[in-house]
Order: sequence, then C-alpha cells, then structure tokens
Amino acid sequence: MAHEVRGVVARGKGAPVTIETIVVPDPGPGEAVVDVQACGVCHTDLHYREGGINDEFPFLLGHEAAGVVSAVGEGVTDVAVGDYVILNWRAVCGQCRACLKGEPQYCFDTHNAAQRMTLLDGTELSPALGIGAFAEKTLVHSGQCTKVDPAAPPAAAGLLGCGVMAGVGAAMNTGAVKRGESVAVFGCGGVGDAAVAGARLAGATTIIAVDIDDRKLEWARNMGATHTVNSAGTDPVEAIRALTGGFGVDVAIDAVGHPKVFEQAFYSRDLAGRVVLVGVPTPDMQITLPAIEIFGRGGAIKSSWYGDCLPSRDFPMLIDLYLQGRFDLDAFVSETIGLGDVEAAFEKMHKGEVLRSVVVFGT
Ligand SMILES: NC(=O)c1ccc[n+]([C@@H]2O[C@H](COP(=O)([O-])OP(=O)(O)OC[C@H]3O[C@@H](n4cnc5c(N)ncnc54)[C@H](O)[C@@H]3O)[C@@H](O)[C@H]2O)c1
Ligand SMILES: [Zn+2]
Ligand SMILES: [Zn+2]
Repeated sequence: MAHEVRGVVARGKGAPVTIETIVVPDPGPGEAVVDVQACGVCHTDLHYREGGINDEFPFLLGHEAAGVVSAVGEGVTDVAVGDYVILNWRAVCGQCRACLKGEPQYCFDTHNAAQRMTLLDGTELSPALGIGAFAEKTLVHSGQCTKVDPAAPPAAAGLLGCGVMAGVGAAMNTGAVKRGESVAVFGCGGVGDAAVAGARLAGATTIIAVDIDDRKLEWARNMGATHTVNSAGTDPVEAIRALTGGFGVDVAIDAVGHPKVFEQAFYSRDLAGRVVLVGVPTPDMQITLPAIEIFGRGGAIKSSWYGDCLPSRDFPMLIDLYLQGRFDLDAFVSETIGLGDVEAAFEKMHKGEVLRSVVVFGT
C-alpha cells in the first residue's frame, strides 16, 4: 500500500520551499522504503531550489539522511526491514566502464529507485540526488542504503550521506593527503570543515582554513585547522605561502565552487601539489588560467564527486571512528529543526550562522 507522508518540495526556481503531501509507492524490485529519522540541510539542496543543478522541478529536497528500512521489494538481499542505514547517492552498478576497471568510486551508472514518488495529483517528483529525504518516508534503490552501527544517532550519522563524506573524502580519497603534508581548505561550511577534519585524520600537520567569515574560521579550528586566513581582507595566496616557507601547500581544496576561489586554490599549492574542486560551480561559471602555469606547476587538478567515496567501505569506517571518539560528527550539527524549518535553515546557511541544520523526525 502506498503511503502519504509530508515532504519538502521546491516547486520552481528561487521560490520558497513548501511542505506537501507526497505519495511514496511500495518498493518494487530492488527498491526499499526508508523511514527517515534525520536529514541535514546541504548547500546542494539550495542549489536545486535555485535551479543551479537542473530544471526538473518539482524537486523533493533532502539527501543527507539516516533512517530505518521499513519495506523492501522483490529480490532485495543486501538490506532488510529494521536495518539502520545511511542513504547514499552512489549505489554502484558493478557493470559500467568504471566499475569494470575496478574503480567503482567513479561509477557512471549509479542506481536509483525506478518508480517515482509523486504529489497527490500524480505530478512526478525529482528527488534531490536520487534520494529526497526531507520526508517522513522515502523510496530509494536498496543499494542506496548503507547499513551502519545503530549506536550512532541519526542526526550525526546522516551527515555522512553527503556533505561530510564529500569533504572528508576530498581530503583523504581525492587529495590523498598523507601524514606530514600541508593542506589548505577554502570555504569552511559543512563540506570544507569536513575536509579539515579529513586532513587531520589523514595526518596532515599544517591545515590552513580559509573563509570570508570569522565565525566559520573559529569552527574550523575546532575541526583541526592549525591556521586560519580571512580572505575577505587578506590575500590568501600570500598568506598560505607565508605559512609554508614560501612554497604553498601540498593539497589545496576548493569547497566553495567559485572561479575566484578555484584560482586562489590553484596558486596556493606547492610544485607537484594537488588541487581538489569539491564545491559545485554553477553551469555559467568559467575559469581562465595560463596554460604554462598548469604545465609548469605539475601535480594534479582533480574534481571530487562525493569525496570519491565508496559508501560500503567509507560509511562504516567513519561511523567506527565517530563511536571511538576520533571523529567528531556531532560538531557539524549546529541545530536540530523540524520539517517546516528548511526554508529558514537555507537563510541561516546563507548568512553563515550554521554549519548544518538537521531535520529530525518524530520529535
Ligand atoms: N562535490 C560534492 O560531492 C559535494 C557534496 C556536497 C556539497 N558540495 C558543494 O560544496 C559546497 C559547499 O557546501 P556546504 O554545504 O559546505 O556550503 P556552506 O554554505 O555551508 O559553506 C560554504 C562556505 O564557503 C564560504 N565562502 C563563500 N564564499 C567564499 C569565498 N569567496 N572565499 C572563501 N570562503 C567562501 C562561506 O562563508 C561558507 O562558510 C557547495 O558548492 C555544495 O554544493 C559538493
Ligand atoms: Zn558502475
Ligand atoms: Zn549534499
């Protein structure tokens, strides 16, 4: 029997989100329905609302979530009813070119539910990142459910489903930060601070946080930044060189997704260093760089989708570190809110007042 539940919908470009009744069908083959317990507000949800991702309105927003599987469809063997899971947007297919090369973290054909959730009038919804978890229940592909230790509370655990994983992975996987290296992270929101935390976990000894907001820099220190630079008033490239013996950092991570910031990251790294773009640019953005600088500096320029993570490998590992007190996921949760507070949370995110607002259900 299909369920009718409340969900947060973006109906049109730039319009405030609204709470709508949505219809969640019974899971078909390979699908699962998850009772969402918590879902973080990520900047990517705001990108969707602003039409910065695509025009497939209406969107069912929310994609950083944890919950409990309440129904599974035919042929589902990897999860069962009652499992506590984090939802992921990289359910690898096992058969595409990337998967066959043994690089499933780049899977080109990730699984989502085949059926659509709808509004009451039958209008099909586009779930954000194939998840749509600002809703009491959501329908996903079973591969989008990663089972983790239920000892981790959902408000913290769910954040691994997108922003925190993207940031940690940008440092640990894409940037391949090694112990003793120097790292600069531009933009210290949820994603950037997770990159700071990931750099610390990987053993970086110099971690420079760059932001235009002093509050964010203070929080980044708590995540492991050894130095901070407010780039609103200081040239961050000069400041980073000064902090690294005049050379620049081994790994520079752009967690904003703006051409100016990318350029700063590009020029902040040492010879043979790595630049990682994890912030999401909008389709109109352009970057112009002297080709000789790209060649002459060597190293690598990489983008990081979802921190090049493999949910089945990385979520349980990070939950273990969290439960052992070695990775402070709780520090990312600035506030817990209700489903009706998502629009206000966008505003707070915009003003820089929060790292993550997390919708908690059933409280
Ligand atoms: N690649 C991925 O898989 C992935 C996953 C999740 C989010 N993202 C993207 O990462 C980016 C950050 O997301 P978030 O949730 O942390 O957002 P956020 O709004 O919480 O944080 C952005 C931070 O950037 C800072 N900032 C803005 N302009 C700046 C500038 N010119 N220089 C330095 N700092 C600046 C802001 O003060 C803020 O602290 C977004 O573009 C989001 O879409 C990417
Ligand atoms: Zn694949
Ligand atoms: Zn996200």
